[in-house]
Amino acid sequence: MKFRVLTTRENLPGHGLHRLSEAADVVSWPGTGKPDASDLVTLAPGVNGVLALGNDPVDAALMDGAGPSLRVVALASMGFDNVDRTAAAERGIVVTHTPGVLAETTADLTFALILAARRRIGAAEASLATGSWGLFRMHDYLGLDIHGATLGLIGYGQIGRAVARRAHGFGMRILHHDPYAPDDDLSTSVDLPTLLAESDVVSLHVPLTEETRHLISARELAAMKPTVTLVSTSRGGVVDEEALLHAVREGRLHSAGLDVFEREPMGPELSPLVAEPHVVTLPHIGSATESARAAMADLAVDNILDVLAERPARTPLPGSSAVPGIPAGTAGVRA
Ligand code: DGY
Repeated sequence: MKFRVLTTRENLPGHGLHRLSEAADVVSWPGTGKPDASDLVTLAPGVNGVLALGNDPVDAALMDGAGPSLRVVALASMGFDNVDRTAAAERGIVVTHTPGVLAETTADLTFALILAARRRIGAAEASLATGSWGLFRMHDYLGLDIHGATLGLIGYGQIGRAVARRAHGFGMRILHHDPYAPDDDLSTSVDLPTLLAESDVVSLHVPLTEETRHLISARELAAMKPTVTLVSTSRGGVVDEEALLHAVREGRLHSAGLDVFEREPMGPELSPLVAEPHVVTLPHIGSATESARAAMADLAVDNILDVLAERPARTPLPGSSAVPGIPAGTAGVRA
């Protein structure tokens, strides 16, 4: 009898889905947006695996809808805040994600945001495009230097370290705050107050968990330099956007670069941050290159195929067992 796997998309970059459909009966949610939890529950009965993206709802109802046949939930994403990890652990379901294959790509995009926000590239480009560029003037389009500035990385896992390597090439001084990561030859480990007080650029690389929700709120923003650039490519919920909006409007920081938002997808009802001239905003494209997205889908498929073949999953979530049927804790989570 063939295994049965639910995927939350009919198409994914690369050849992973093709390999999956050779090994299992694949049932896919047919929509193109973000599925509702109830859409997925309807398709779930009897499946052995679920392949989902990083903000599809994977909750206890979906796991119960699938029933005891469900062995593995494979995310084609690094982030995992969309999964009820406690429910999965209680049911002995393996949950996997895709570290390793998107760190460099996301670090590239992080640097693009640092450059764009600090050098005011979006505003300068828009002024040219609207015919407002009249003359070279000494006071126009002034930003702040990246070289020689201090970068503070909150979270120093794979992506944080990949950003540090780029920052080193730019001649930045690098600090990080991460309870799991000591000093290394690129960066010095500091406590959060020191990082906030000394950094010219603060970049967020922590997963969204109960501990990191609104990690950057009014108090932390007030502790930063008035010339700081805040960059986030992790998850929107790590920043209290209302507090950020106030700080931006009151000129209490230089700029921000955001690839992620508290409400995703945003649709036509835009966050007010999008219209702020000192904020660069992107629609969650940190890992959006052809090769990274294909590698993410591929790794998710490999995780499913391994677990269904009774091999340990390649990249289980921190705190998840690599083999099904073993309830595991969810402690020790890091990016
Ligand atoms: C990730 O991998 O976490 C990206 O943000 C896409 O979900």
